[in-house]
Amino acid sequence: MATSALEANTEYYDDEAVNFYKNPAFKRDLMLLTKFNAFAIIRAATLDPNTTEVLDYACGAGVVSLEVSPLCKSIVGADISKGMLGEFEKLKAPNMTSKVIDGTIPPETQFDGQKFDVIFCCAAYHHFDSPKDMTVSLGKLLKEGGQLIVTDFASGGHEAFMHQHGQPEGEQPSHGHHHHKHQQHTKSELPMSDEVLEKAKTTIVHKHGFASSELEEWMELAGLKRFTFDTFPRVHAFNTDSVAFAARAFKV
Ligand SMILES: C[S@@+](CC[C@H](N)C(=O)[O-])C[C@H]1O[C@@H](n2cnc3c(N)ncnc32)[C@H](O)[C@@H]1O
Repeated sequence: MATSALEANTEYYDDEAVNFYKNPAFKRDLMLLTKFNAFAIIRAATLDPNTTEVLDYACGAGVVSLEVSPLCKSIVGADISKGMLGEFEKLKAPNMTSKVIDGTIPPETQFDGQKFDVIFCCAAYHHFDSPKDMTVSLGKLLKEGGQLIVTDFASGGHEAFMHQHGQPEGEQPSHGHHHHKHQQHTKSELPMSDEVLEKAKTTIVHKHGFASSELEEWMELAGLKRFTFDTFPRVHAFNTDSVAFAARAFKV
């Protein structure tokens, strides 16, 4: 039984890593979100196949890394879950390597002084105890001129979408990362079972949606400049109706 957020995340992802990818509905939704994330990173980052050294922090199975790998020199995928990194090892490209992170120690002390041109962190900020501290840590792992790109779900995503597009008031979720059963799915087609979903909601998700101002504040604190925040069109993935974002800033 996990006693801390970190242990809960490690336990959950170690347990679920293998099961996830056996579920076709999960794979379908993961691929959908992965395309959004890879698109955002490829659009935001300056990537050179001969020189760019990338860190995919909280990489999970490395599905986003795999999309980015042909465009850069190397990618290190780092994660606290050995189960997820086991999946990463199965699908990795030759220029991808994996690294186990000890979540009890600041991440910036765990790369033997190596710094990166591009660091991205996809769909993981909502799991961190302190996204603020994590942003400062990731900033320390950047080379001068390097950039940090964070993707996650925007706060008030669904409500903001409804408001923005003037759609009729319906069932209103209380937060941007909104879990509900999709009407047209039968139970066996759902990407996550009720049981796994409940486990995720009550143990590993710490923050439901982020505002642009929060990301901007944390990136400034990390000494990063030229902040931008892009949102994607509404996406339905993992029993969740959301608006995802990509935040970016540079170490200059
Ligand atoms: C929803 S998955 C996203 C995986 C991947 N970035 C993607 O987009 O497919 C979240 C990942 O964050 C990892 N994680 C959670 N807390 C972490 C921490 N403190 N340091 C590193 N990884 C962490 C989990 O093990 C999990 O693999």
